[in-house]
Amino acid sequence: MIIAIDGEASSGKSTQAKKVADYFGYSYLDSGAFYRAITLFFKKKGISTANRINKNDLNKISLNSKYNDGKNSIYLNDEDVSNDIRSIGISEIVSDFAKEKTVREHVYKHLREFSKNQSTVIDGRDIGTVVFPNADFKFFLYAKPEIRAKRRFSEINKDDINYDSVLDNLNYRDTTDSTRKIAPLKKAYDAHSIDVSDLSIDQVFEKVLSIIEK
Ligand code: DC
Repeated sequence: MIIAIDGEASSGKSTQAKKVADYFGYSYLDSGAFYRAITLFFKKKGISTANRINKNDLNKISLNSKYNDGKNSIYLNDEDVSNDIRSIGISEIVSDFAKEKTVREHVYKHLREFSKNQSTVIDGRDIGTVVFPNADFKFFLYAKPEIRAKRRFSEINKDDINYDSVLDNLNYRDTTDSTRKIAPLKKAYDAHSIDVSDLSIDQVFEKVLSIIEK
């Protein structure tokens, strides 16, 4: 069983994907976290734009993820980078790295390998369109940018960033992610769309669950 939960930045995809995984006892994969980990790898080497990537370096990157009790840990070459990949510095440049074909293929390989022998809920941008076009269930979450930015802002350290920067970053990522040539952010034709603007986490989950259980 593969359940794909795609959608815009900060639309609550990972929250919903974890809830679905917990409910059914499935594995959980956060594909965005893998793009972030690859971005971190190159940033640490002083490379902040994807056109400077040395393709051979990708083969030196192994990604892993462990989901336990609601906590998802991401490993880059066996190092736990779960916190580092959430920094503003990574959020600012990750969409640029995610445009690269070789980067995407590297992530696809890991996603397909992890979910080969187990039922998995995966969140991302192109899971239902490209990575798992035959997924058993597909969802697409979206909301007004201001609402997503407000929710995101309420979760982060206000000393690091202000609301306007959160909104700008979110709009920038959505535009870059949805206009790129390869695997752009878009709803799969057979995905269930959910506008989460006026819904609580539990209300979205009820909708998701009712579709799966039907
Ligand atoms: O879900 P997130 O915000 O952590 O994702 C970070 C970036 O990774 C996002 O801006 C675009 C990219 N991404 C992608 O291109 N395809 C995916 N399936 C998941 C994320």
